[in-house]
Amino acid sequence: MKTTFYLTTPLYYVNDEPHIGHAYTTVLADVVARYHRLFGESVHLLTGTDEHGQKVAQAAAKAGREPLEHCDLTSQRYKDVWVKLGISYDDFIRTTEQRHKDVVIELLEKLYKQGDIYEGEYEGWYSVFEERFFTEKDLVDGMDPIGGRPVEKLTERGWFFRMSKYQKWLVERYENYSDAVLPSFRLNEVLGFLRQPLGDLNISRPSSRLSWGIPIPWDTDFVTYVWFDALTNYYSATVHPAKGTSPTWPADYHIVGKDILTTHAVYWPIMLHAGGLEPPRHILAHGWWMAKDAEKMSKSRDNVVKPLNVADMYGPEAFRYYMMRDMVVGQDANFSEEAVVKRLNSDLANDLGNLLNRVTKLLAQHFDGVIPAPEVEDEDSLVELAGNVAFKVRDSVEKFAIHNAIEEVLQFVRAINRDFTDRQPWSTVKTDKIRAGVDIARAAEGIRIAATLLSPVMPVKTGEVLKRLGVAKAEGLTWEDVDWNGAVENNRSSHGDAIFPRYDIPASAKVSPLAKSEAGTDKKTLSRGAEAHTPIQPDEDGMITIEDFKNVDLRTAKVLAAEAVEDADKLMKLRIQVGGEERQLVAGIKQHYTPEQLTGKTIIIVANLQPAKIRGIESQGMLLAVRDGDSLSLLTPDTDVSSGNRIS
Ligand code: MSP
Repeated sequence: MKTTFYLTTPLYYVNDEPHIGHAYTTVLADVVARYHRLFGESVHLLTGTDEHGQKVAQAAAKAGREPLEHCDLTSQRYKDVWVKLGISYDDFIRTTEQRHKDVVIELLEKLYKQGDIYEGEYEGWYSVFEERFFTEKDLVDGMDPIGGRPVEKLTERGWFFRMSKYQKWLVERYENYSDAVLPSFRLNEVLGFLRQPLGDLNISRPSSRLSWGIPIPWDTDFVTYVWFDALTNYYSATVHPAKGTSPTWPADYHIVGKDILTTHAVYWPIMLHAGGLEPPRHILAHGWWMAKDAEKMSKSRDNVVKPLNVADMYGPEAFRYYMMRDMVVGQDANFSEEAVVKRLNSDLANDLGNLLNRVTKLLAQHFDGVIPAPEVEDEDSLVELAGNVAFKVRDSVEKFAIHNAIEEVLQFVRAINRDFTDRQPWSTVKTDKIRAGVDIARAAEGIRIAATLLSPVMPVKTGEVLKRLGVAKAEGLTWEDVDWNGAVENNRSSHGDAIFPRYDIPASAKVSPLAKSEAGTDKKTLSRGAEAHTPIQPDEDGMITIEDFKNVDLRTAKVLAAEAVEDADKLMKLRIQVGGEERQLVAGIKQHYTPEQLTGKTIIIVANLQPAKIRGIESQGMLLAVRDGDSLSLLTPDTDVSSGNRIS
């Protein structure tokens, strides 16, 4: 019986330098693997490199190296990045390894013997410059679509895989098993593709043109087509696993980008089925990270974000957190440095970090760091929330809604924050130390659970959080550790520097500085100077122009949560939604509104005000209110308006 949850990343081209696309797929797979380990499952995560093909041979020749020597070096670049990004892979397979080549040869021979591979002729438009064929459809004005160079019609002998024979089987499988390709709209795309007759696949290339590949066992004038070779890795790693747990076929999930879905959802299941093997259980296609102008990030467009640069600037775990929180698996997402900073500041520095800081500070000041027992009350809403959040996280992860799982934990953190603020232990400690201790311990227990639930996303940082709460076991956490069980009681906590630092919002965050060479990364680029704004200059009569007015970006915003700032008479901290973005705002309205009155209100804010610190808390904007004598009233639209709309 299959007991191991087996998931894979694509095998990355050795010619590419690791970039955000590779990093995203791999971090996603790692986070899912770590969650399943936390759920108590045995997990096997496979990644590796795709090393055959003409381009690799050419790059090696250019570098004056033997192809394999070249692959050794370039494959290592991925391994180095994966160490840096904390990828817990169980096996790393390279298509140049003997354990892989043996299985490809076996599969080819089997298919050949049973008549599923036959000799045929391929006719197409060949570009001498690009050294490849194009179909009639690919050509642009009769020229090659890449460089616009001449092409000639050529006929070439080759070996063909009878894919057409299995088309009907595949369509039936997908019609009966709608989870096989995820998200479901991708399954529809695949089924759409399968509505056309499926041609047979040329699985060979002449070795005169392409020598760096696995020879066709019965005809050494040819090598195996790279996709036929590379796809087989997922299975060959189960036949000869390199180390660790041995995965059992079929794979549970192949995680791939949407650009390589057809090869995975059409060629690969047919190859397996023809070979007498089960197809993978699920193929999950994620979207692309786009540069700001909605262009796919890619090497050829020179707009690629190098993961190591972002990781160097903000820390590898912050980068993991951003990628997992800001991309809905399956959809595209825009990458911007500004969004990275906002996400880190709001979720990690403000919500989680600040709460931890307040808790450990009070413990150090009044309890010598020792955490009292977190007493539970009858129908305790915080304890109930803790139980729910664990359930929701698991459910979201099982549906690959990682952004949701994270948001659930953050909602829980905000609830702990509210509970803490309502109970005001910093004040009650002066009169009722026992009460205050219990209230602080509740928050500590809540943070322990939140950190455990976030541990697959940020294993090192959450380990530091747990250590601050005196939790000895920061590794090898299990699903029992997400129970509210008072585990923090009697732990010795420690108070220290912020685990989640706050960053300046880059004034004109561009993608390009991140794309510069790794070696040249300079931390100073983090806080670039503020963009030069044209100051508003009233004329002598005090009048401003319409242009001046237009410089002020007034927008509607929805109050998501509000909280009184401790030890400040007037200040209230608000979390607001401005369109797709969440912000924090500090305003002097404490004497006029309660948090309950504010939550849910739509207000008007100045959205393009430079962030300012008020009592050490960052305010990203200013709200509009009118004062009348002693009273103060917030400006709000008089009908229901969604947040983020510009006031004109
Ligand atoms: N070698 C093949 C895969 C063979 S698997 C048997 C290949 N390699 S790749 O190096 O190009 O890596 C592709 C992976 O990176 C894909 O999952 C692809 O979607 C992902 N990305 C490349 N650019 C991307 C973005 N800009 N955003 C997100 N992922 C994208 O294809």
